[in-house]
Amino acid sequence: MAKRPSTVFVCQECGAQSPKWLGRCADCGAWSSLVEERAEENGGVGAGGAGSHRYALPGASGSARLYADVQIAQQARLSTGIGEFDRVLGGGVVPGSLVLLGGEPGIGKSTLLLQAAANMARSIGPVLYSSGEESEHQIKSRGERLSVGDAPLYLLAETCLERIREEIVRIKPALVIVDSIQTVFSLKFQSAPGSIGQVREAATQLLFAAKGQNVPTLLVGHVTKDGSLAGPKALEHVVDTVLYFEGERHHSHRVVRAVKNRFGAVSELGVFEMTSAGLRPVPNPSKLFLAERPSNASGSAVLCSVEGSRPILVEVQALVSTSMYGSARRMTSGVDQQRLSLLLAVLEKRAGLYLAGDDVFVNIAGGMTIDEPAADLGILAAIASSVRNRVIPGTTAMFGEVGLAGEVRGITQAALRVREAAQMGFSRCLMPEANIDAPSSSNGGCELVGVSTVGEALDLLFP
Ligand code: TYD
Ligand code: MG
Repeated sequence: MAKRPSTVFVCQECGAQSPKWLGRCADCGAWSSLVEERAEENGGVGAGGAGSHRYALPGASGSARLYADVQIAQQARLSTGIGEFDRVLGGGVVPGSLVLLGGEPGIGKSTLLLQAAANMARSIGPVLYSSGEESEHQIKSRGERLSVGDAPLYLLAETCLERIREEIVRIKPALVIVDSIQTVFSLKFQSAPGSIGQVREAATQLLFAAKGQNVPTLLVGHVTKDGSLAGPKALEHVVDTVLYFEGERHHSHRVVRAVKNRFGAVSELGVFEMTSAGLRPVPNPSKLFLAERPSNASGSAVLCSVEGSRPILVEVQALVSTSMYGSARRMTSGVDQQRLSLLLAVLEKRAGLYLAGDDVFVNIAGGMTIDEPAADLGILAAIASSVRNRVIPGTTAMFGEVGLAGEVRGITQAALRVREAAQMGFSRCLMPEANIDAPSSSNGGCELVGVSTVGEALDLLFP
């Protein structure tokens, strides 16, 4: 019988295995992604016992049960003590769940989790904070600024998965934090920490620890240059909840977004501000994003976007200037570039604004990113305002999707947007005609103006 090769080459992008090195992964087509890894030995690692194997989910009985016979254990969610963090989690941490928090280096992942760890240690009992990135005294010196105080928080500077699991068994924490999953390695594999085999093994084992002992576990994940989570995509499938930390280095505010949540709504978002004493929740983000809005400046419009269940008013700025070079530039920040091209074509065809020889810059103030079609009308209005050098009244907010025929189409959750605009002191809301009767109940003194075409909207804004 042929001997099983002792090493395999594993694609770090998709996890495909090959007995010999290849320049290009035969499965996913990625180049230079294969790394040599020691094949896992099959003997000795099994959990033992008839019918049980390494990847058996703890608590699973193995035989099918009738739907009606399954008892649901209604467990209360555990509050992290940080309102905005609870919000993205869907109301707090679910006992026994595995949460992955991804984000760029230096954005504040460790800070947020240390703050949550300290709060939860005070409210629900001992918390284990295991870090493979910082030593105990580095974590403590950060903790001093975050006023962790005398909370029963255990720090562990460790990268060995088996040691972390031993400490979980020994301390019996009410919450485990692993910072970061890419630094953890299992003794069962020879490959380096951060490789696909290691990350997958670590996530799976921590999942079993979380489900088996009903300890919620929060993992930190690194992201790659293009913004996706480093390591296998498989990681996102293993965990219950995936959160992304976003924000710009040059702005103090940070946004945590849920992109997957087995226990709550996705696209829910929490807003924080980075201060000298850690991350501070921002319960009223509209105020933050509108804080530095210029008065009486052309090219500025306020649009109302809905992120998850929360309406947020943001300022969109546009600058249109004559192009100095042959080809006109279109630059965006916080808005999809393709969407801008489309809106410019609509402006040209349906509103008679010719911008072929002009550079167009569009920016969402404060570093926010908006990818909702309801932002179309605001972007368009800001561009038209810059072209005509006419100011949009500071008390007007707007929202609406723009179609290729120049029509303004109805959007979802109009009432929510109107309420937010009224609360923030806007006295006029430019919105799709189709949505006009929906919010009649609670427009709180805000005049609602329905428009059905782009031309109509521009005539109203710039009479
Ligand atoms: P950190 O949580 O270490 O980032 P990550 O774990 O995502 O890599 O955040 C580090 C940044 O946050 C660093 O640039 C300093 C800043 N910071 C503050 O501004 N105030 C604070 O109280 C703390 C702890 C960090
Ligand atoms: Mg960190």
